[in-house]
Amino acid sequence: MRKIIIDTDPGQDDAVAILLALGSPELEVLGITCVAGNVPLSLTSRNARIICELAGRPDVPVYAGAERPLVRKLVTAEYVHGKTGLNGPELWEPQMPLQAAHAVDFLIDTLRSTDDVTLCVLGPLTNIALAMIKAPDIVERIAQIVLMGGGCFEGGNTTPAAEFNIYVDPHAARTVFESGVDLVVMPLDVTHKAIATRPRVQAFADLGSKVGKFTSEMLDFFERFDMEKYGSQGGPLHDPNVIAYLLTPEIYAGRRVNIEIEIASELTMGMTVVDWWGVSSRAKNALFIREVDDDAFFALLVERLGRLG
Ligand code: BDR
Ligand code: CA
Repeated sequence: MRKIIIDTDPGQDDAVAILLALGSPELEVLGITCVAGNVPLSLTSRNARIICELAGRPDVPVYAGAERPLVRKLVTAEYVHGKTGLNGPELWEPQMPLQAAHAVDFLIDTLRSTDDVTLCVLGPLTNIALAMIKAPDIVERIAQIVLMGGGCFEGGNTTPAAEFNIYVDPHAARTVFESGVDLVVMPLDVTHKAIATRPRVQAFADLGSKVGKFTSEMLDFFERFDMEKYGSQGGPLHDPNVIAYLLTPEIYAGRRVNIEIEIASELTMGMTVVDWWGVSSRAKNALFIREVDDDAFFALLVERLGRLG
């Protein structure tokens, strides 16, 4: 079993990623740490607990973390995810408690006490950067960070230059990209190839389960915005690629490159400057994923979510 912590800002696609992890026996979810991003922290930490309860896993500890980015003002994305962050299905007030500890302290304590922990990061990198700043000794204890963020040939989805997760907290992203930790990056270049088309959303509904219904209703809402924006057959399902990479790395392909984060220019703030062609002499710091077998990705999702009730 691979031990993971999921750092997240649910978000419909974050929710599907959490469900994929909880439906996968190869993964042990040590905890879920929440950050402000798609919606404010009070909602992301509520949504994460709703998803754990939906999956029948109220035992998974959920922690609240940073309420705002390191330097810049919080930018949220209700225009994509709806006011709750999980618009689509009917939501409830979760019964399971939020843990008393701060997410950053949970990250530090867990990394210090547990070997081989992989961080799966699905939102702005604020919590991870704060943990690295507060306790630099944890950096070398992190087995790997697999994160959704950035883009290269695909451009940005929040500004022409920047993807949402990196744009929201570019200073945190820079801290993480400069940390020397083994990084795997799932950028828009790959997540825009994982499109939740009608038949794919229907496949979740056809599971006939609570999780299947909830997922199809979330994706029904989520796709509206992106279909309009990109003229595509459905919305890109970004964050579950992070978890799917851990389960089936063979369905992904990419290249080890240098990636630097822009924090100086307002015009290109939060841009991931990817040296795809190796034109600089900067050290390679990340595996940048560019291809996915999208049919295999959706088959994995349906099979694993099908294991939940
Ligand atoms: C990322 O931003 C959020 O809206 C999604 O949850 C995903 O993590 C895509 O740019
Ligand atoms: Ca997210």
